[in-house]
Amino acid sequence: MIETPPAASPPARGRPLPGPAGLDVLRSAWALKYHVLDTLRGAVARWGDAVAFPVPPWRMVLLNHPDHVAHVLQAGAARYGRSPNYTEMSLLVGKGLLTSDDGAPWRRQRRIAQPMFHKRALTGPLGPIVARVTDDLLADWRGRGDATFDLVPDASRLALRVAGLSLFGRDLGGEADALSRALAVALPFVQHRTEAVLRPPLWLPLPGHLRFVAARRALDRVVQGLIDERRRAHEQAPDLLGRLLDARDPESGEALSDRQLRDEVMTFLLAGHETSANALAWTLHELSRHPEVARRVEAEVDEVTGGRPVTADDLPRLPLVARVLDEALRLHPPAWVIERLALEDDVVGGFCVPRGSVVLLCTWTTHRHAAFWPEPDRFDPDRWAAGGPGHRMAYFPFGGGQRQCIGEEFARVELELAVARVAQVAHLEAPPDHRARPCPGVTLRPDRVLVRARWR
Ligand code: HEM
Repeated sequence: MIETPPAASPPARGRPLPGPAGLDVLRSAWALKYHVLDTLRGAVARWGDAVAFPVPPWRMVLLNHPDHVAHVLQAGAARYGRSPNYTEMSLLVGKGLLTSDDGAPWRRQRRIAQPMFHKRALTGPLGPIVARVTDDLLADWRGRGDATFDLVPDASRLALRVAGLSLFGRDLGGEADALSRALAVALPFVQHRTEAVLRPPLWLPLPGHLRFVAARRALDRVVQGLIDERRRAHEQAPDLLGRLLDARDPESGEALSDRQLRDEVMTFLLAGHETSANALAWTLHELSRHPEVARRVEAEVDEVTGGRPVTADDLPRLPLVARVLDEALRLHPPAWVIERLALEDDVVGGFCVPRGSVVLLCTWTTHRHAAFWPEPDRFDPDRWAAGGPGHRMAYFPFGGGQRQCIGEEFARVELELAVARVAQVAHLEAPPDHRARPCPGVTLRPDRVLVRARWR
């Protein structure tokens, strides 16, 4: 349970936030639980860019304007901390890079991992790994002949294998089913606890707790297996796991404890594949629904490669592929909400945000802000040709400020190359009128993405 921090400064002055009151609070609590995306969008339409929802157990504040986003993530970031959803997330991933509070331990964790994610480092093994894993996926699809299938589990397997091979030197394809079964229990449990008014301790043997603990144990087995295997092999591999094992505290000279190591590996395993899997599924969904865009992507890849297999080195010459990804991440941001806890009273856009508020920065609504995105619901990769929305924080699928996603470049290389590789050999068709529905949980998953592959 997060404790409200003591006031660090005199109360800030600002207008009170608009939002539901009286019976409307109950209605919006229900609507936020069952229709969160439409409810947040409806609230912006009704009350504007800043809205308070005094919904137990938290006072939630939606800040939708890109200026607000820039304030919370960048200029005013010191007034905000990790929110309750990260506290609950740490039941699963412990205190890894994602859930650690800002401060010296987080900076140290980030310093250890950062070199693996520099652009230079990513031009090495990542490209060939993505190429190989995507080719396996395509071979699998060929085996399905003319059938229509749901590619969501395939995208998940691809992202898991890419993360396993490139970060930990292990192909996790064999564990994919067990991992996705465990995540299907563990992630909704975490999400549910964040929203719950009561959060009983995990040691109470409630059915939900027992299921969560079993799922976490299954995930732990995979993570511990990765660590033990590497230790036994006495290898010095130049991947993330190698760096974590070699890391030493600059003052004490001590290595990471087994617990820290487990938390970090679990964090990267989850953060490194769940979001990318969703992004890939959504991107292929949009391409399968927009054959005219898909044909242009295919032509771009053909022209650049002249028929040889596309590689990561070709990506700078595939601007349409990058725009397709940007547009898919705009409409379907896997990290659909970024939350922060207000550590002190603040004024944002003229409104008072009281200490203890849970601030919601909703990529899904800001990415549809009518002042920055003409026809916001339309999938139109060409809108990026003129250089984007004109405000840096009108688009923030990877967050911003010091906690910006460490894996952004990794994800971009992975996703652009996978999409280009698919486009080179297959043309995906969605059944008429098929639209994937967004399922907002810890990430924004599509319910299912139905396609049929036509071979080029
Ligand atoms: C399309 C794919 C991805 C999306 C949309 C995404 C999104 C994000 C966002 C929005 C944050 C910031 C969260 C916050 O500020 O509260 C974040 C943080 C993070 N991401 Fe990603 N991510 C993606 C892929 C990856 C990959 C591939 C990795 C690792 C290989 C990764 C690892 C992390 C980690 C460790 C953090 C925490 C960083 C920190 O707090 O210092 N992500 N991600």
